[in-house]
Amino acid sequence: MTVAEIFRTMEYGPAPESEKEAAAWLGKRERVFGHFIAGAWTEPGQLFDVINPATSQVIARVTEGTTADVDAAVAAASRALPAWRALAPHARARHLYALARGVQKQARLLAVLESMDNGKSIRETRDIDIPLVARHFYHHAGWAQLLDTEFAGYEPIGVVGQIIPWNFPLLMLAWKIAPALAAGNTLVLKPAEFTPLTALCFAEIADAAGIPAGVINIVTGHGETGAAIVEHPGVDKIAFTGSTEVGRIIRRATAGSGKKLSLELGGKSPFIVYDDADLDSVVEGVVDAIWFNQGQVCCAGSRLLVHEGVAERLLAKLRARMERLRLGSPLDKAVDMGAIVAPVQLERIRGLVRQGVEEGAAMWQPSWACPTEGYFYPPTLFTDVQPSSTIAQVEIFGPVLVSMTFRTPEESVALANNTPYGLAASVWTENINLALDIAPKIKAGVVWVNSTNLFDAASGFGGYRESGFGREGGREGMWEYLKREEERGKGEEGEARRRGREANRGNRANEATSEKPASSSAPRRCPLPPSPFPLPPIDRTPKLFIGGKQARPDQGYTRRIHAPNGQLLGEVPEGNRKDVRNAVEAAQAAAKSWSRSTGHNRGQILYYIAENLSVRADEFADRIASMTGAATRRASQEVSASISRLFTYAAWADKYDGAVHSVPIRGVAIAMNEPIGVIGIACPNEYPLLGCVSLVGPAVATGNSTVVIPSESHPLAATDFYSVLETSDVPAGVINIVTGAKDGLAKVLAEHDDVEAVWYFGERDGVRMVELASASNMKRTWATWHDRDWLEPTDGEGREFLRAATQVKNVWVPYGE
Ligand code: NAI
Ligand code: MG
Repeated sequence: MTVAEIFRTMEYGPAPESEKEAAAWLGKRERVFGHFIAGAWTEPGQLFDVINPATSQVIARVTEGTTADVDAAVAAASRALPAWRALAPHARARHLYALARGVQKQARLLAVLESMDNGKSIRETRDIDIPLVARHFYHHAGWAQLLDTEFAGYEPIGVVGQIIPWNFPLLMLAWKIAPALAAGNTLVLKPAEFTPLTALCFAEIADAAGIPAGVINIVTGHGETGAAIVEHPGVDKIAFTGSTEVGRIIRRATAGSGKKLSLELGGKSPFIVYDDADLDSVVEGVVDAIWFNQGQVCCAGSRLLVHEGVAERLLAKLRARMERLRLGSPLDKAVDMGAIVAPVQLERIRGLVRQGVEEGAAMWQPSWACPTEGYFYPPTLFTDVQPSSTIAQVEIFGPVLVSMTFRTPEESVALANNTPYGLAASVWTENINLALDIAPKIKAGVVWVNSTNLFDAASGFGGYRESGFGREGGREGMWEYLKREEERGKGEEGEARRRGREANRGNRANEATSEKPASSSAPRRCPLPPSPFPLPPIDRTPKLFIGGKQARPDQGYTRRIHAPNGQLLGEVPEGNRKDVRNAVEAAQAAAKSWSRSTGHNRGQILYYIAENLSVRADEFADRIASMTGAATRRASQEVSASISRLFTYAAWADKYDGAVHSVPIRGVAIAMNEPIGVIGIACPNEYPLLGCVSLVGPAVATGNSTVVIPSESHPLAATDFYSVLETSDVPAGVINIVTGAKDGLAKVLAEHDDVEAVWYFGERDGVRMVELASASNMKRTWATWHDRDWLEPTDGEGREFLRAATQVKNVWVPYGE
């Protein structure tokens, strides 16, 4: 082609990136790899092929990880742990900094290798994936440096197992490895079977950067290798990104194991266009939302929701743009779209598109043809889509956009939330009032205003609902790799700490009494003259507390509550499945307006509960003493602590601020702490009043509604508490209480689709049961069998509780004309 011809046609010429460097790197090991364990390469074992999806050629062979390989990797990580976690924060910061530098120096090699392995375009790997990888390590070098002050009282979890998908192979590795190392953990990571190469290249970079042997271990393999990591008893936490289906398997496999878990799963994210949006920007936004990485993006804007009035115009513009998208060799710097990762994924896309056509939606594709070699799929647009149809509900994970229309903002929110997922959303309008009104109403972990697919290490990423739980990136992501120092406190060390606290408390109590006699040490009033024989108890018909009223249980069964000496103290209803369902219904009905009430109002109600409780402090202390056999002084202490705790959460209600993250755009990423919704709470048996108040307090202070199962053995403090709630202006349904068998009731809560989170404080079997049952809708759980010193503020209240009661939504708002 002559220059004159090029000027006439304005056709793109080829602009291929060279494979040479990547080929040389692969050639160094004759394209055959073992695992990277304990700082060394293992002998290759049973091999499987690594394929370039753009050419369908085998480009390397890697080793299938066996359980013995996983054992070796976990052992290496355990051996490396003590020295790594003991490093000074600055030393770990230097290591993370070295990783960032190492990645930057090998940026070109990594970009080409990634492109060859995954099929994504070099433009994306070069300009997005690899720069973000480096950014992640730099950002987390910062958290490593600040760890002791910013996360005081917390420590690394231990050995972390990390399992990642194939859509952003090196970026997902960075999202996992950077925070894990910054917090002082060691790790075993398994890359996806389709895309192991950049992880292996990274191992080499880490080794050259001087990361100590065993701190980072990379094991390749398929799902069984992943399962071996998940099930390994030496692993203390699992971090997983991938399909919701496998996420559910992992939730079940780790239930009751004590392993901490974070899951970043699928999505079906809405891309909402209002009638005042700038439609030309919208078109470019859609290209980014659904054709970025061929649509193989967990947060892809795969559902286009358009205002009816502009739908025709937008779709016409979109078709014109699709006609001009360029698809071809991923190493060509001028293509927009590369190849689909593997034949199985291509088949899945084809199958779902076929189903969309069969279900009656209209399918449109550009007129040009895809290359016949390699696994390519054209950009595809569906119109006339029913919101309930398969293609509107199922994650396609390919370049397929489904569009639907709406008339009002309310309708747009209803459509947007009409999915079990909740990962991300884009909102397009020139009206900032509308944008910021809609953002909090969408159930998603990230909302982008007039933008899409913005990511940064400073801003947490992760889902609501079946998109998983936990955040990656930002301060919020660091918590996933840390645990309270107290949780180690089972052994002697913890015992010593507890004894120290008991002693302190004694001193403090004495100080308090010397200034002002506490009611507990005053002579106790005697309500009746002593009787020569015990009076018969007043027969009260025991009730539940549902929807703001004392409610009769579904069935008449009761359980008798005895004092430690066997004396009958009273009865409580034996709540059943139906009672829990009624309580959840009441909590759901209350959730919306309670979540929108102001922090000030919620604080006022908590103060009011505290006030009403303090009026009856002696009565509650007597009740606790008689149920538990505790000394009166100790029982009074529990009541005082409960009153103080209510004050704590009244205080927090308007102070648990979000943040504005420093992201590298002109604009802001607003991290909002949002309530989770309805939280089911199974209280500890010990501390019948304080245990309950300590959990209900943070939940309602942050705007959640609750269904509470009080102490199973000592429920009467909670049933007495009904009357306190009734006189404290608590809106109906915000706090519901169902007495009975804790584990049976907790199971109903954990299985219930309208319960968004379950907290369980009890025995290990119960923890396992709750974690297993919660997998049905992937609800968040906070379940533990560790003892807690509820009297102690450092153990029984504070940010840990507030974090459990909230989820972070990051709203990205770029600005400037
Ligand atoms: P997948 O969830 O099976 O694979 C993700 C990772 O988990 C891989 O490393 C895999 O080896 C590992 N794995 C598989 N089974 C496991 C098990 N039982 N225990 C432990 N680890 C296990 O995803 P796959 O099969 O590659 O893709 C299937 C569908 O999942 C895609 O079509 C897409 O819809 C969705 N997906 C979603 C992703 C996301 O980021 N949301 C990422 C990848 C896939
Ligand atoms: Mg591959």
